[in-house]
Amino acid sequence: MLVPPHGGRLTDRQCEGLEAGKIIDQVKNGKLLTLNAREKNDLEMIGNGAMSPLEGFMTGSDYDSVLDLMHLSTGPLWSLPVVFASKEEDPDVSPGDHVGLKDIDGTIWGDMLVEDIFRADLIAEAEKSLGTNDDSHPGVMYLKSLSGEYIGGKIRSIRRRETESFGNYRLDPKETRVLFRARGWKTAVAFQTRNPIHRAHEYIQKCAMEIVDGLLLHPLVGETQEGDIPADVRMRCYEEILKDYYPRTRVAMSVFPAAMRYAGPKEAVFHAILRKNYGCSHFIVGRDHAGVGNFYGTYDAQMIFDQFDPDELGIVPLKFEHAFFCSKCGGMATPKTCAHDNEYHVFLSGKKVRAMLAEGILPPPEFTRPEIASILMEAARKGDN
Ligand code: ADX
Repeated sequence: MLVPPHGGRLTDRQCEGLEAGKIIDQVKNGKLLTLNAREKNDLEMIGNGAMSPLEGFMTGSDYDSVLDLMHLSTGPLWSLPVVFASKEEDPDVSPGDHVGLKDIDGTIWGDMLVEDIFRADLIAEAEKSLGTNDDSHPGVMYLKSLSGEYIGGKIRSIRRRETESFGNYRLDPKETRVLFRARGWKTAVAFQTRNPIHRAHEYIQKCAMEIVDGLLLHPLVGETQEGDIPADVRMRCYEEILKDYYPRTRVAMSVFPAAMRYAGPKEAVFHAILRKNYGCSHFIVGRDHAGVGNFYGTYDAQMIFDQFDPDELGIVPLKFEHAFFCSKCGGMATPKTCAHDNEYHVFLSGKKVRAMLAEGILPPPEFTRPEIASILMEAARKGDN
């Protein structure tokens, strides 16, 4: 049996085809609110059950409870707000209104039954969720761009398979669960990533694969900050490495359509809970998970898990120390397994890799497999990175 969803039941508030057409007819001539990129990602994930037990954008009581107590007002553990911010161009709405949700191009992606409209202290939200209100943190900049008024209520989302990117890889939680069952997996470890795969990623994934039935490669393809390698380039890297270096029957790949929040520890918990909804029993948390700059300590995102009751969390965090290639060991290692000094360790930051690529230098095979290095180099030449 696979792990149960968070809160016990997979929510399903997603419609397509005729049902979606009905929603559009109901809302298109009424009040339409505008989704920004993150909210559009969140709408999709509330709709498809990845955010179970959420059924909509948070109301004030859930928002306060999540920020102050890291729990939803109804009880389950939850670490980050999932909210809809009113926009300047939006019409006024009141509790009880049935409104449409559209993107900036005017395409309708769902509806909401407005339940609560509340003002938020965005600086306090930044401090509580991101641990800082420093403007150089991308999550703080995002919050400071908002109006400070949130609108909460239950949603329905619309899925348009014909227009979605990575369509072959876009599995909803109910679909990954079907896949895992079909493969006979009882346990699966999820790997969250926003970067192209490198040897340290591969090493920790394969260490984890030794103790579970299967690996869910789950690259994040929602909104990321400028400078991160685009999702299509990252997906090409994964397709390439899967050809030769992984046993295909033990790996599933699907995209994770969430926006990055760069919230470090609290986002690690958020990432874990959502992967539990996809049917994963284990979740990899390595060095500086979901971190940015020097805002979080290397292992903060691991330590946060120590405060939760394992049954309440319901997914096992698999914690990995900083992995690197050690030229003395002649292989991948971590401080837990390697006896040698730093001078023997090959480690490159994402920034350093981008700088090398920009200068036309291939990252070394100890850092990234040559097949991956050439994809990144080609993308850098075309200006995709
Ligand atoms: S993240 O924002 O998704 O965390 P990234 O794609 O770099 O960024 O990392 C994916 C996962 O691999 C995270 O759990 C991260 O902690 C882990 N990780 C990345 N590099 C290393 C490394 N060298 N050693 C150990 N863990 C790592």
